[in-house]
Amino acid sequence: MTEIRWSVAAAGDELWEGDILDVEVADEQVLLVHLYDGRIKAFQGLCPHQEILLADGKWDPDTNRLLCPGHNWEFDMTTGAGVNPAGCHLYEYPVEVDGDDIKVGVPQDGESHHLRFST
Ligand code: FES
Repeated sequence: MTEIRWSVAAAGDELWEGDILDVEVADEQVLLVHLYDGRIKAFQGLCPHQEILLADGKWDPDTNRLLCPGHNWEFDMTTGAGVNPAGCHLYEYPVEVDGDDIKVGVPQDGESHHLRFST
């Protein structure tokens, strides 16, 4: 079983419901998303297309859609799935809320946690 290294990525009051936050966890670029339904998600922070910072994109917490600022690829941030283009996907990290700490787990598997996709 792959060991997971847990790190505090943010405090709860840094990420209100409906917000996104760009963080670095164990040298990896991570995008935290706090959905209106209360779930906190953590995805790769760079776009699978050309590695633009997703946190600079257009985020709509009502539809849970994020538009990459690079070329307007659209993602469903409840799952990390590409809406346009379909077929691409953001890598998703495990998240744990421990008191006021939001922790992100990075698998110690020697793999890249940054998925790429080209059309
Ligand atoms: S870099 Fe994100 S859509 Fe091109």
